[in-house]
Amino acid sequence: MADERTLILVKPDGVKRGLIGEVVGRFEKKGLKVAALKRLQLSKEKAETHYAVHKERPFFGELVEFITSGPIVAMVIEGPDAIGLCRKMMGATKPMEAEPGTIRGDFATAIQENIVHGSDGSDTAAYEIPIYFEESEII
Ligand code: RTP
Ligand code: MG
Repeated sequence: MADERTLILVKPDGVKRGLIGEVVGRFEKKGLKVAALKRLQLSKEKAETHYAVHKERPFFGELVEFITSGPIVAMVIEGPDAIGLCRKMMGATKPMEAEPGTIRGDFATAIQENIVHGSDGSDTAAYEIPIYFEESEII
C-alpha cells in the first residue's frame, strides 16, 4: 500500500456553505495527512488547465465559471492509497449515485454544485497538484 498524494478542492459551493472544516475533518479523521492547504480564488486560466480533459464537453464553460465563482480551498492529502480512498469518501458525481456517508452523498443535490474535487488517478494527481502548489509548500 504505497503512500500517494492527491489534490482535493473544496469547491465554491462548499466554501459558501461553511463546509471547509467538515471536508478537511473527514480526511483527517480517516487518518490521512493534510500535507498542504490554502484558500484561494482560481483564475480562469488555471481552471481551464485543471479541467482541460473536459474541454470538449458541453458543460465545460459552466464548469469553469462555477469553479472560479468564489474562493475555494485546495489541499494535498497524503497517505496509503490516498487517491482511491479520497474518491471513495467523496462519493459519486451524480447526486442519486452518491451514497449517504460520503461527502457528496451527505451534502450535495446537484451534479455541478458537488462540494469537492478529488484527483481520479496518479497521472491526474501529478498533473493537478502543481497547478495549486509549489513542491516546497507540500510538507
Ligand atoms: P471532479 O473532477 O470535480 O472531482 O468530479 P468528478 O471526477 O466526480 O466528475 P468529472 O466527470 O471529472 O466532472 C468534473 C465536474 O464537472 C461537473 N459536471 N457537470 N452538467 C454535467 O453534466 C456535469 N458533469 C460533470 C461536476 O461539477 C463534476 O464534478
Ligand atoms: Mg474528475
